[in-house]
Amino acid sequence: MTQEQTAVTANPAVRAERLREEIARHNRLYHVVDAPMISDAEFDSLMAELRGIEGSHPEVAAQDSPTRTVGAAPDSNGGRQRVEHIAPMLSLSNVFDEGGLIDWYEDVEAAAGRPVDLSCEMKYDGLAISLLYEGGVLVRAATRGDGIVGEDVTDTARTIGSIPEQLDEPVRGILEVRGEVYCPLEGFNLLNAAREERGEAQYANPRNLAAGSLRQMDPAEARRRPLAFFAYSARGAAVPKVLRKQTDLLDWLRLAGFSVADERLHCRTVSDAIRFCFDAAATRDELDYAVDGVVIKVNNLEAQRGLGDQSNAPVWATAYKFPAQSARTRLVDVKFNVGRTGSVNPYAVLQPVRVAGVVIRSATLHNADYIAERDLRVGDVVEVERAGDVIPAVKRRVERVGYSPPVTMPDACPSCGGPLSRFAEEVKVYCTSATCPEQAERRVLHWVGRDYMDVDGMGPWVVGEIFENRLVRDVADLYSLGSRRRELQSVAGIGEKRVEKLLAAIEASKSRPLARLIATLGIREIGRTAGEALAERFTSMRQLMAASAEDFQAVPTVGPGMAESLASFLSREANIRLICRLAAAGVNMAAETQGQLVAESPEVPWAGRSA
Ligand code: IVH
Repeated sequence: MTQEQTAVTANPAVRAERLREEIARHNRLYHVVDAPMISDAEFDSLMAELRGIEGSHPEVAAQDSPTRTVGAAPDSNGGRQRVEHIAPMLSLSNVFDEGGLIDWYEDVEAAAGRPVDLSCEMKYDGLAISLLYEGGVLVRAATRGDGIVGEDVTDTARTIGSIPEQLDEPVRGILEVRGEVYCPLEGFNLLNAAREERGEAQYANPRNLAAGSLRQMDPAEARRRPLAFFAYSARGAAVPKVLRKQTDLLDWLRLAGFSVADERLHCRTVSDAIRFCFDAAATRDELDYAVDGVVIKVNNLEAQRGLGDQSNAPVWATAYKFPAQSARTRLVDVKFNVGRTGSVNPYAVLQPVRVAGVVIRSATLHNADYIAERDLRVGDVVEVERAGDVIPAVKRRVERVGYSPPVTMPDACPSCGGPLSRFAEEVKVYCTSATCPEQAERRVLHWVGRDYMDVDGMGPWVVGEIFENRLVRDVADLYSLGSRRRELQSVAGIGEKRVEKLLAAIEASKSRPLARLIATLGIREIGRTAGEALAERFTSMRQLMAASAEDFQAVPTVGPGMAESLASFLSREANIRLICRLAAAGVNMAAETQGQLVAESPEVPWAGRSA
């Protein structure tokens, strides 16, 4: 039994809370930042575990548990308006095999009191969107967000050819059409091939490209991206009353001018639906759109309403998730990138191979142990897996052709050439330089994030642009952007008003509490909990910097590893200089105690402290 499993049995409340946090983080990565870090299957298994615990220990279930909510609240980044949906946009329950589908059907049949017909549709792997039409004219498009409130993306949605501006059918009143914005695979692969030729970074997958394009601020840029839309549901007074079935509704949506995929089937029995799922899984590679399963819905709309919803998903529908897909290819090279915390991460450069319709050119190798355990070497034929729609991974070696030496980890930082450190019990090696360029961009992105210094309006795109154009080299430079308004406006491609808003948001971030600042600095192992405890104990950055590893360890929740990491961070000259520049820019360096700011001298207090 693993330690984690012991924790489950020992303390369900603790485990459930950990799972909720973990799920919330991955939800944000997936829905808000468009940068998922785990596969759909891994995510589903976290959810399944949480659901299991909450089911058998109802006392630990939280009102805001991700098992009852959908996705993540829209980011404060991007400056898009938040809009409320006319009805919640829900999630779907999942089944992974024939047995699961039969169980779902039996439950539905029992609840409906009779056998029901089904509508089987592809589960498009894109981005859910709600389109509002008034009198047949598109008036609003919104992303799902947290299911209740989404982001207004009307301007970018209007650039998508398969979203009609005006309906072909005469309609009166409100019509809400929901569906999925996606990136056709051919367009995706062509775009990535062109980017590769220009030496530009690749889009990780079609879903990310679709999501990023829709939420990006410049409709002219969005127009250049290959995006399309499939409709899958409709509601509102404008829906003709004669439509009583989901399959008829889809036919009508086509007449009205929407795209609905051909791959769908009206099934009278669950056996037919199972056959459809298996056929769909076997032929998914032939489609020009990414799918991650089949959605099975009760066909009769009245019966759907009768069955209703349970927590965050309808009872009348479920998703049959396809298993992960894999392919064989050659491992051409092993390279390394540097993460925000300085971790040096190996990744595989692959001979391009198509997995689930997407051409894969690189895949994660996680860390040195992962490579050693599988004895992966350059030149090997390897199996690459793409589960759901996340970062592909090299699973195993299939064949070795000829000799090649074992992979060695670099002995200097691949981005800045600085020294690398290893920490006790950790497999990863880290670059601890505060001026490493690759880390710097990731750090700025982290810095502006909502849970950290929360700079409203500064998303990954703006950060990328200001880095590429050298307006910013590190987080302290953010605070001098005020003197570079014109450049900011031109490189970020945003208007004067947005620039002012952005600068105001940067200004506002200066007054975040000390605890947040500590957690935001990107010190290995020092997160929000430690940030709180340290801010409470030391009350100012000056005192924190004067303390030793031993002092840190005396703080509750701060273990020896954390204390060591903090002491080492605070003793490096480059980090001290950075903190001094932040202080000089006016970033708050003191904790609030009993409603009063602890006095902190305004001049740079740590000049002269040596590394
Ligand atoms: S019906 C209550 N039909 O799957 C939700 N959803 O996990 C009913 N999706 O983000 C949705 N293809 O956007 C439905 N044919 C389809 C779908 C579909 C993809 C997405 C949906 C949502 C997710 C739910």
